[in-house]
Amino acid sequence: MMNGEPTLGGRRSRFLAAGAAGALMLAAPVAGAQEVKDGGPFVPTPHKVVEAMLDLAAVRPKDFVMDLGSGDGRIVLTAATRHKARGIGVDIDQELVDRANASARRLGVAGRVKFVRQDVRQADLSRATVLALYLLPGMMSALRPKFLAELRPGTRIVSHDFELGEWKPDRTIEVETPEKYDLSGAWTSSVHLWIVPASVEGSWRGSGAGENGARLELELSQSYQRVQGRLTRAGGRVSLRDGVVEGRGVRFSVARSGGGTETWIATVDGDRMSGEIRGEGAASKWSAERAR
Ligand SMILES: C[S@@+](CC[C@H](N)C(=O)[O-])C[C@H]1O[C@@H](n2cnc3c(N)ncnc32)[C@H](O)[C@@H]1O
Repeated sequence: MMNGEPTLGGRRSRFLAAGAAGALMLAAPVAGAQEVKDGGPFVPTPHKVVEAMLDLAAVRPKDFVMDLGSGDGRIVLTAATRHKARGIGVDIDQELVDRANASARRLGVAGRVKFVRQDVRQADLSRATVLALYLLPGMMSALRPKFLAELRPGTRIVSHDFELGEWKPDRTIEVETPEKYDLSGAWTSSVHLWIVPASVEGSWRGSGAGENGARLELELSQSYQRVQGRLTRAGGRVSLRDGVVEGRGVRFSVARSGGGTETWIATVDGDRMSGEIRGEGAASKWSAERAR
């Protein structure tokens, strides 16, 4: 990090100022359209940040990459040319959409990617396995409930610089971008990664062959990828420690009545989860179903 680097506040304030101006600016006029660029003006992500985003999301040929506010299409185009993925970009600006589709044809990837004019709030996210974003913080927070409702557990979200409000990233890396200093007031760009967590909130009943075996009950409360709660089984009731959900995987630890710790690991499939209890000795199986 360079001396005297401005804070994230500096980075945000300059882009936010640009965003406020952009939000006031009507998108390219399209018959009957009222939409504004309230996700931010077109500011392209530097190519090395694009590559860092796609690498952090570990994009593979089987992925379907969506960019909300796709600009000139560079993120989806790079996903197709370098990672052989498929994808779609949506942007409110018809001129940018046309430019991105023309680039797809020129690069020979028009069969795998396309760009459409649409407000990001209307986008159908059901095909996405990777979601790429470079949108202003207000729009990021506004879209957060949509992401949690529509994206499948395990979908990777990567964002250039801006976060999803109270849903903290699973990982953040910094990429040196001195060329962006005049815009952002920072020498580096942040790239954030979130893995969409399965929903595990609720009461679960099941059985396991762990300590004392037999019936078990789990009361889980969830805040994004963090899980808290209590496990009740024949040996008594214990609080969960270090509970996390990563995609469809859930993991937590509990104290054993005789001392020591057990780690419970499971894969969530809707209202059912099943997995292993790892402690001293051999791992044993457990499973549970959501009661409500
Ligand atoms: C900061 S640029 C990012 C462009 C591209 N994703 C990139 O990283 O290079 C934000 C883009 O979002 C688009 N945009 C802003 N508000 C939007 C909205 N409500 N719906 C769709 N696109 C929007 C703008 O036209 C602009 O191209």
